[in-house]
Amino acid sequence: MRHNKWSMDTKVIHENQMPDQETRAISSSITPAVAYAFPDVQTAAAVVAGEEEGIFYGRYGNPTLGKLEKKIASLEGGEDALGVASGMAAIATALLAFVKKDDHVLVTKDVYGGTYSFLASIAIRYGIQFDYVDCTDMALIKKSIKGNTKALFIETPSNPLLTILDMKKIAEVCKSFQIPLIVDNTFMTPYLQKPLEAGATIVVHSATKYINGHGDVLAGFIVGDKEPIHYMRKTLMGNLGQNLNAFDSYLILRGLKTMAVRMHRHCDNAMKVAEFLESHPSIKKVYYPGLPSHPQHVLAKKQMTLMGGIVSFEIDGDFQTATTFINSLKLAYISFSLGDPETLVQHPASMTHASIPTKEKIKFNISDQLIRLSLGLEDAQDIIDDIDQALSMVPVPDKITNSNK
Ligand SMILES: Cc1ncc(COP(=O)(O)O)c(C=O)c1O
Repeated sequence: MRHNKWSMDTKVIHENQMPDQETRAISSSITPAVAYAFPDVQTAAAVVAGEEEGIFYGRYGNPTLGKLEKKIASLEGGEDALGVASGMAAIATALLAFVKKDDHVLVTKDVYGGTYSFLASIAIRYGIQFDYVDCTDMALIKKSIKGNTKALFIETPSNPLLTILDMKKIAEVCKSFQIPLIVDNTFMTPYLQKPLEAGATIVVHSATKYINGHGDVLAGFIVGDKEPIHYMRKTLMGNLGQNLNAFDSYLILRGLKTMAVRMHRHCDNAMKVAEFLESHPSIKKVYYPGLPSHPQHVLAKKQMTLMGGIVSFEIDGDFQTATTFINSLKLAYISFSLGDPETLVQHPASMTHASIPTKEKIKFNISDQLIRLSLGLEDAQDIIDDIDQALSMVPVPDKITNSNK
C-alpha cells in the first residue's frame, strides 16, 4: 500500500486524495449532484439496501463528501465515517443511534453547552434519561452505570475547563459493562489524539473548528465501525436531513491539507500564552494541559501529541472584571467559535454555556471570572501584548484592597 508508512503530517495531505483520473486536477472536484443514474433497477435496489457501495440520493451523501469521509475515517483509524451538517448533528446522531426511550446515558460533567442543551431539551422530551458524572473518577463512573445505561459520552479535553479524561481506563470500564464509549475529539483533531486506538467505540467531531480551520464551514463527523455508521447514515442522518453538502466538503478537504502545520502553531501559541497568563498577578488560575500545574498534565502528555490550542483562565475579580478585560482586547475577536486562524475570546458563563442553569454552572465550575481563549495563528507576542494591554485596563484586586485601607 502506498500510504502504509506515511506519518500523519503526510496523511493529512495525501490520504485518499489522488489527482482526478480524467482531468489530472490535484485539488478535489466538487460534485453537487442530488440524482444518480443506475444501469438497471437491480443495481439501484442493491445500492439503496447497502448491499453494493454507491450513492443513490444527495440527502444520504455525495461523491465529494464520500472522498472526505474516507479520509476522515482513515485519519481517525476507523472503518467508516459519516459527514453531517454540524458538530451538533454529529453528537445528536451518535447519541440517538445508541439510546432510545427509557434508556440512560452518562455524560462527563463539563461538556460543550450545545451537548448539554440537546440533552436537556430534546433527549428529555423523547424519554431519554441522562446523568452528569465526574469522569476523572473511575469508581464513580462504575457506580453511576445503571441497568438501562446505553452509552457514555465524554469530551477530552473538555470545553471550557480542559479537563483531561483517561480514555483507555474509561474504555475498559465501558467494555466491562458492554456500553459504547463516544468521544468528542473536536479540541484535538485526529492529528493530536486517537480515541479509537484508546478503545472508544465512536468518535465525533465538530469539523467547524480545527478540521476545516478557517471559520467558514459548519460540519460534523462521526467515525466508527461500518455497521453503526451505516445505521446512522440511513436511519438517522438521512431521515433528519442533516447531510453535508459538496461545496462545504470541498472546503474541508482543502482545509485539512494544512491541519498539521496549523495545529503546531495553535499549540505553540497556546503554550506561550498559558505561561504568560500563569505569571500575571491579575490571573487567579490557568487551565491548560501543557502546564505542569494542570492536574492531568502527565496523562495529557501520554494520550495527546500536543496540548491543544485552547487556554481557559480565571481572572482575579468578578463578572465586571472579566467582561471589562474581554471588551478591552483589540486583536482577539469576541466570538462563540474556536479553532480559527484568528484568536477568539469568549465568556463561557454568558456565551457558549449560557444555556446551563446557574446552579449547574457552579457545579461545573463555570464561574463568572472564567474566560476561554482560542489561540489563532498570529504571532504569539502580538497576542500576548494584546492580552497584556487588556489586563492593564482592569484593576488588580490587591491594589484595590490596599488603596482602600
Ligand atoms: C467540543 C465541541 N463539540 C461540539 C461542538 C458543536 O459544533 P457545531 O457548532 O459545529 O455544531 C462544539 C462547538 O463549539 C464544541 O466546542
